[in-house]
Amino acid sequence: MELFKEGNVIFHAEDKQLKKAGVFFNPKRKFDRDINVLLVSSLIKDNSTGLELFSGSGIRGLRLCAETKKFNKFTFNDIKSSNIIKQNLEINKKNLLMTVKTVNNAEATSFKSSSKYDYIDIDPFGSPVFYLDSALNLLKRGGVLAVSATDTAALLGSAQKACLRKYGSLSLKTAYSNEIGIRILIKRVVEAALAHSINLVPILFNFEGNFIRVYFKANSLRIKPNIGYAYQCYNCPNRTIETLEKCDYCGSKMHRVGPMWLGSLYNKKYVTKMLSSLKQNSMKFSDESSSKLLSYLNAILSELPVFSYYTTSEISSFLKQPEIRISKFKNRTVLSPKGFRTKSNFSDLIKSLNSE
Ligand SMILES: C[S@@+](CC[C@H](N)C(=O)[O-])C[C@H]1O[C@@H](n2cnc3c(N)ncnc32)[C@H](O)[C@@H]1O
Ligand SMILES: [Zn+2]
Repeated sequence: MELFKEGNVIFHAEDKQLKKAGVFFNPKRKFDRDINVLLVSSLIKDNSTGLELFSGSGIRGLRLCAETKKFNKFTFNDIKSSNIIKQNLEINKKNLLMTVKTVNNAEATSFKSSSKYDYIDIDPFGSPVFYLDSALNLLKRGGVLAVSATDTAALLGSAQKACLRKYGSLSLKTAYSNEIGIRILIKRVVEAALAHSINLVPILFNFEGNFIRVYFKANSLRIKPNIGYAYQCYNCPNRTIETLEKCDYCGSKMHRVGPMWLGSLYNKKYVTKMLSSLKQNSMKFSDESSSKLLSYLNAILSELPVFSYYTTSEISSFLKQPEIRISKFKNRTVLSPKGFRTKSNFSDLIKSLNSE
């Protein structure tokens, strides 16, 4: 066991991400936890209640309590590491005076509580789908739900059968698979919530290699969720969310992918709120964390709200050209360093590139 410091918190854990690790801690997720702290601090009201179903060392929940001061009650839960969480709470008690803390060691699927929560966090090993019902049962109207998934083989198209089984969707390995994965995850969570009469809207996403995290807000408005299919040509990079049997560029068969969330991947109002609280500097992020958060949120806000991005590699190799420089395109995406978005359809994109 080692002693770590992250943000405002000191804690015991093992620097191991393996299931067999005594107490899980992944230092590579610091930026993800920074986003989490900023989001909670900006969007959750004072005196809220929070529940973390998979606490590990407790670092995430500890940071949320100590750095945002938004919670007057916070419940930590982990089937394995409740004793360490208690120790870590003790080490940080000066920073947590305002919060009533409870530590449970329940299996997350059978976590029970007599009261509901304003913030619930699902950060398991693998897929979150098994835990959605326990979380949704306990989510307040207006609350925020955070959902992580690391079963990227399923979501990103390498394990299509697993994706069909867990998410009810056909995924596909493509140049923009991470976007498909995020959209399939959102669809699954939004549909699970509808069964609980909760309308969830996605606020923000984060993709880091084999890790996807999406934040949702439970709205009281009844809006029809934007769920449907994408169509991908296997003979050229053309894709669309228009129902298309034959590719309108090369004439080949279009293949249906999904169903998936086809709406925006972020909520402009809430992300703008996060950006302004960051600029007001109310949280004590290091300069490095602040500038990383600033550029991430600005990049999110400038993403074109269109389905899927193209990469310079796939377009260049399709055109049998030397790799086109990404700096040529002004609408980039946080999902790939070589990715760009365009409002043009594929035929117009190719036409404009050929006419240069
Ligand atoms: C990915 S880690 C959580 C990481 C933590 N949220 C963080 O940011 O560092 C997953 C944790 O879930 C716990 N866990 C695994 N299966 C569980 C289950 N069915 N119910 C409750 N906890 C479980 C593990 O012991 C592990 O600590
Ligand atoms: Zn085609």
